[in-house]
Amino acid sequence: MWKNLALSQLSSKHRKQQRQEREETAPKLALDRLPKHVAVIMDGNGRWAEARGLPRTEGHRQGVHTLREIVRTCGELGIPVLTAYCFSTENWQRPQDEVSFLMELILEVMETELDSLKNEGVRIVPIGRLTDLPDRVRTQVERAAELTASNRALKLNLAISYGGRLEIVNAVNLLLQRAANGEKLVVDEAAIAAHLYTAGDPDPDLIIRTGGERRLSNFLLWQAAYAELYFTDIMWPDFTPKDFVAALAEYQRRDRRFGRISQRRELD
Ligand code: FPP
Repeated sequence: MWKNLALSQLSSKHRKQQRQEREETAPKLALDRLPKHVAVIMDGNGRWAEARGLPRTEGHRQGVHTLREIVRTCGELGIPVLTAYCFSTENWQRPQDEVSFLMELILEVMETELDSLKNEGVRIVPIGRLTDLPDRVRTQVERAAELTASNRALKLNLAISYGGRLEIVNAVNLLLQRAANGEKLVVDEAAIAAHLYTAGDPDPDLIIRTGGERRLSNFLLWQAAYAELYFTDIMWPDFTPKDFVAALAEYQRRDRRFGRISQRRELD
């Protein structure tokens, strides 16, 4: 579908230029210290479109193109997990037209991009309350997950009808259910983590939010405990692989202490 987006048709020259920029920037990264899990809050689609006198939906279409580029970049760099916030539990309160458009868009992307994602070794994993989705969308998303289940290059968690609080409540209920079935359980941090949608994934090292706002908006609340947060005013449709690499470079400059003192100070 990336190819027939009215507004997002990038000429091959532009693509080549983007690739060149990526290659020029990439060597500045320490490839052995890349995050194992990056999560993105793809904000600013609506404002990007409105600023151009376009319907908000065009911003979402262009946003899909951006996400595709970031998926490709993660694959090239060898980042093993990417989580993208596609639709929150709160987004159901948007105007019906926009909600329907986003559902159709997810369906369309899952159909048209499946083969190429599969060929790139991407494993698609939907996370969220999928029972909220229209049947056609849910079926297609689950089909994409099944058909890519054995892929190992990049795990792409698509947060759809996702809420961080809901996810924690869900985990607690799963544990309660097991206890009710007579299992002896210790409810500790590991037990909760093992019942989240992201069970088995490393926690996100880096969470990027585009679009100028500086909040998490109910995204990966448990998992974000020690994530580095990166906020940029760039609207998601304008966010390029080069901007992504800049976020990774900033991440590598951070001193991650996890409540301890700096390793550098320890050595002094
Ligand atoms: C936030 O921008 C973005 C969303 C609510 C939707 C993002 C979804 C996509 C890019 C589609 C991805 C889907 C798949 C499966 C690839 P906003 O509308 O809140 O922007 P605004 O703050 O400028 O209004």
